[in-house]
This record gives sequence, C-alpha cells and structure tokens, in this order.
Amino acid sequence: MKRGLIILGGLLLALSAAVLGFQHLGSYQFNGYVLPEPVKAPETLLRSAEGPVRLSDFKGRLVLLYFGYTFCPDVCPTSLANIKLALGELSPQEAAQVQVIFVSVDPARDTPEALGRYVKMFDENFIGSTGTREEIDWMVNAFGAKYTLEAPDENGNYNVSHSAFTMLLDRSGYYVMNWPHGTPSAEMSADLRYLLEHEIPVSAQILSGPTYTPVVCAVTLIPAHVQNGQWLYEHHCSQCHGIDMAGNPQWQVELADGSHLAPPLNGSGDAWKVSEQTLLATIKEGRNLDKPIHMPAFKSTLADWEVEFILSYVKTTWDINQLNYQHGFMTLTPNPTATPAAPLSPLKTVTPSP
Ligand code: HEC
Repeated sequence: MKRGLIILGGLLLALSAAVLGFQHLGSYQFNGYVLPEPVKAPETLLRSAEGPVRLSDFKGRLVLLYFGYTFCPDVCPTSLANIKLALGELSPQEAAQVQVIFVSVDPARDTPEALGRYVKMFDENFIGSTGTREEIDWMVNAFGAKYTLEAPDENGNYNVSHSAFTMLLDRSGYYVMNWPHGTPSAEMSADLRYLLEHEIPVSAQILSGPTYTPVVCAVTLIPAHVQNGQWLYEHHCSQCHGIDMAGNPQWQVELADGSHLAPPLNGSGDAWKVSEQTLLATIKEGRNLDKPIHMPAFKSTLADWEVEFILSYVKTTWDINQLNYQHGFMTLTPNPTATPAAPLSPLKTVTPSP
C-alpha cells in the first residue's frame, strides 16, 4: 500500500540542499538590521502641515520613518541630519524615490505646523507629522518601537525618551529593516542604493533570524507568512483562481488557441506537483502571456517574499504528502497499468524512514 511512495533522501541531504539553496540567493550584506518577519505598515492617518498623510500613500517609494519630537535636544537632530547626509550620497533620481517621514510622539507640544517648520530645516521634502495620542501609541506598537514621557521639571518642560532607530518601509509598504542610531550615513546610503535596485533577498531575512525550518517529511508553514499570504492572495489571485483556490471549473478544457482557464492551486489541481522554483517562476514571469487568457506576470507587483507568503498560504490547502512531494522529500512512482491520474490519488501519510 505504501508502494507508490518513496522517501527521497535523509535528513543530511535535505539540510545540505536547504543550505545550498539559501547561499545562492544574493550576497549583499546589509548594514542595517533586516527584520526576520516584514511588518505590514499600519493604516494610521497622520496629520502634517500639508494635510493628511497615510503610509500607504507612498507605495512604490521607499519610506524612512523616524519617531521623535521637536523639543528633542540631540538625538533627533543628529538622526535627521544623518538621514539627510545619506540621501545626499545618492543621485538626485535615487533620492527622489525615498520619502522621509518624521512622526512626533509628543502631539501635546508638536502641532503639524511646528513639525513642518522643524523638518524643513533639514530638507524641504521631509514630512513632519503626528496624530492623536491613541493613534501614535497604536502606530509605535505596530512598529515594535517605544517611547516614554519623562516627569516634567518645575517649569513643566519634559523630555521624551524614544526608540532612535530609522525604520525602512519597502515599496509595497512593509517595514523590513532598520538602522540603529549612529549608523554612518555611508552605510545607510549603501543599503538604500541596493534596495532601490533589489528587494531584500529572502536569504538576508533567513540570516537575520531563521524563519524556515527544513524538516524531512514535514514542511513548516509560519503562521505570520500564511496570514500575510492570505491577504495577498485575496487581493492579487482570487479573482481568477477563486477565493477557495479551486480554479475555474473548466480549467482542464484546452481552449481553441491552446490556452487554459485558471487552474486550481489547492490540492485538487497540479500546482503541488511542480517544484518551488517553477511555481515562483510562473508567478513572477506569468505564462502564455501572448494569449488572451493567461497567467499574468507579478514580478513588478509583488516582492519575492510576498510570492513566498502567498505560496505558504496556498500550501495550507495541501495534505502532508503533497507538501513533501513538492519539497522533494518524497517521490511518486507511476503505476504503469493505471491511467495517468491514478498514481496520484492513493496518497496516505507516511512515516519517514530513519
Ligand atoms: C487574470 C487571471 C489570473 C490572475 C489574477 C492570477 N492567475 Fe494564476 N493563472 C491564470 C491562468 C489563466 C493560468 C493558466 C495559464 C496556462 O496554463 O496557460 C494560471 C496559472 C497559474 C499557476 C500554474 C498552476 C499549475 O498548475 O501549473 C500558478 C502557480 C498560478 N497561476 C498562481 C497564481 C498566483 C499565486 C496568483 C496571484 C499572485 C495568480 N496566479 C493570479 C490566471 C490568473
């Protein structure tokens, strides 16, 4: 009964394959700290002297976000001056793709107008903004930052201690990386220049904190990836592949021009029989682009890791054997007497051999 299934390779093979797989994924070493899990920027509505500001307004550009306050004696001015220097080391075309947003955690004293005047001392294009105390708290939390209002002196003046790192949001609005206070501007501008040309490679995220645990006969799906993947799937894929991933009911019918309607991505289709690399390539490059019905290319819309997140979500619909097969931990021996589809159906859970 387990005839159709052979475990391919042992633990060593799987681990070495995983290590080799990660190594060729880009070699740039970031100076900043790359978050192991990108964080979707919250939709907080901020107020600036020029009007309302939402982080999602800047999709397509990189955003440098800094929490501070205008009464800040030294840390904030040094950071803003340093960011200005880093942008100055980029070409004007590159710098134009980076938006700096200073968010005050001291809305009681910092009006949008005062913030506008403050940031323009550093650069005309910087945005100074703030919100209500609740909005700021929510946003600070979402970014994993901190601040504390210190006790006021006899004149009512107070200091605010706050996280002093500069946060980077990528073009699709995810917080992906930060630089600690005091990072030299040349290191920041090198990272920015790299990011203007590339996405953060998955390898860098893995190096900064292992998120994938390759296990023989079990594929670890990380809940945060699945959750983000679901959102991305619903916004980019569900209109053709179905909210349930079942594809178009007519997906197996070949149309006159040789094209096919969107196939299932869940375990009822063929997607799980294709290697990870092929899946990634299909999603990034599209398929049958010359035909009216085709799989569109997502390489300019989605970052590599967003596609990985989508695949994590897709994989929640596959059973353990389909997961193992797709990851190369298991192979299926075709039954020569059966119809082509038959060898794939009697899948049962298998225990890995030692
Ligand atoms: C506009 C409709 C449309 C959208 C949107 C779309 N697809 Fe597709 N997709 C298709 C069609 C049509 C095919 C079949 C192409 C062919 O075989 O010619 C396909 C094929 C695929 C395949 C190959 C499946 C297999 O069994 O080989 C994968 C994987 C896939 N799509 C994933 C995705 C993902 C992930 C998204 C969202 C990021 C997405 N698609 C968005 C229409 C779409």
